Amino acid sequence: MEEQRQRHQRIVLVPCPFQGHINPMFQLGSVLHSKGFPITIAHTQFNFPNTLNHPNFNFLPIVDGFSNCNVSSVNFIDVISGFNSNCKAPLQELMAQMMEAKEYQDEITCIIYDEYMYFAEAVANYLKLPSIILSTSSAISFHTILQLLKDRHNSTQDSMSPELVPELQPLRFKDLPISNFNNIEDLLQLIAKANETRMSSAIILNTMNCLEQTSLVQLQQRCQVPLFTIGPFHKIAPAASSSLMEEDNSCIAWLDEQMRNSVIYVSLGSIASMKKKELEEMAWGLANSKQPFLWVVRPDQTDGLEWIDPLPDGFKEAIGGRGCIVKWAPQKEVLAHSAVGGFWSHCGWNSTLESICEGVPMICQPFFGDQRVHARYLSQVWKIGMEWENNLGRGEIERAVRKLMLDREGEEMRQRAMELKEMIDDSMKEGGSSYNSLNELVDYILSL
Ligand code: UDX
Repeated sequence: MEEQRQRHQRIVLVPCPFQGHINPMFQLGSVLHSKGFPITIAHTQFNFPNTLNHPNFNFLPIVDGFSNCNVSSVNFIDVISGFNSNCKAPLQELMAQMMEAKEYQDEITCIIYDEYMYFAEAVANYLKLPSIILSTSSAISFHTILQLLKDRHNSTQDSMSPELVPELQPLRFKDLPISNFNNIEDLLQLIAKANETRMSSAIILNTMNCLEQTSLVQLQQRCQVPLFTIGPFHKIAPAASSSLMEEDNSCIAWLDEQMRNSVIYVSLGSIASMKKKELEEMAWGLANSKQPFLWVVRPDQTDGLEWIDPLPDGFKEAIGGRGCIVKWAPQKEVLAHSAVGGFWSHCGWNSTLESICEGVPMICQPFFGDQRVHARYLSQVWKIGMEWENNLGRGEIERAVRKLMLDREGEEMRQRAMELKEMIDDSMKEGGSSYNSLNELVDYILSL
């Protein structure tokens, strides 16, 4: 009976079309589909997915007025603002057509939208549909942003200052998620705009109580609506890959030949970019560490250079079979591989969760936004990561890699990461916090 009812209660998802946001939204779609809800994904034409990979979902393409462009901290605010001004009318029209169409037997129950795609909430309000926010980052980062909106003076402090922020310890001013953006005022205005008129009835977070208990309590005190913490999404229901780039699976065969916990996996996510000189130092630091490594070098990772160019002369010969370099890896599979013993990461929230869920300790090299918050928590609170600043030389890189992979300190971090993994596994089992929260979310949606 319930199954039948859910079959008629369709949920429309509106992802923000960047890799680190598409992945959790599609994973959430799989989770909700596994609970019997039909799913429609209203997606910008920008980065529109291959629908054949997602037979369980229907798709609505939203005209967005953008041609594809690389997104970075420099143009992030403009691109997000552009989506929010361009996409409202097209989505409203598509949804109205959908609601009138005779072939649609399902009733639309609610819209779940990425927190940055706040135009979707206006559409929901206009159509008198309930809406729910998906926050794709951590509770800590969410809470930090709300605190910054409250205490705007904090944002005017020196954003590179190593001083602790009084209300947000252990974060320092330089860890705040607004640091390293070109125009902090514009960013805060964008966030304030997204938050000021919010009428959504609940918030879903891709996190777990055992990891972020304190921040979740603080967040709940600030938000008047229910929070559903049902992470880690990628572990709860199997989801088809939503990678925008083709995954190079050959690295799995290479990993199969390596010793247990011997490989350091290096990937700086989907957006972060660096100068050729920095990439060269990375390359020689890795080579000199003498540790096996799997390194993702995206084609757009160095400013304006072709993929193979940035690797220094003589590097490939120096590493022989000890290194494997790919343009894009099947990251979740890589981190779950027994040969991987460490992850050098930019600390985007998805990468952070994927690493913790496999008990893999990290070297943290945050670039911008929430990455700095996560790096600080990984090193100071969860104590499973070593943080370093950008622009490191090859000698420091070599020492850090060896410390993580070979020293006692690295081994202790690996043990703590395994303990966290076990706690997360428990939270997904019957009676665990994520398991219960997911059931509550299903009941909540059915009651809308
Ligand atoms: C962006 C922001 O940088 C980040 O701070 C925010 O939390 C989310 O949006 P991104 O750079 O995309 O994140 O990093 P991350 O959140 O880690 O997401 C990257 C995703 O791409 C992960 O799910 C990861 O598994 C996947 N990935 C990455 C691959 O599948 N293959 C790769 O080679 C690299």
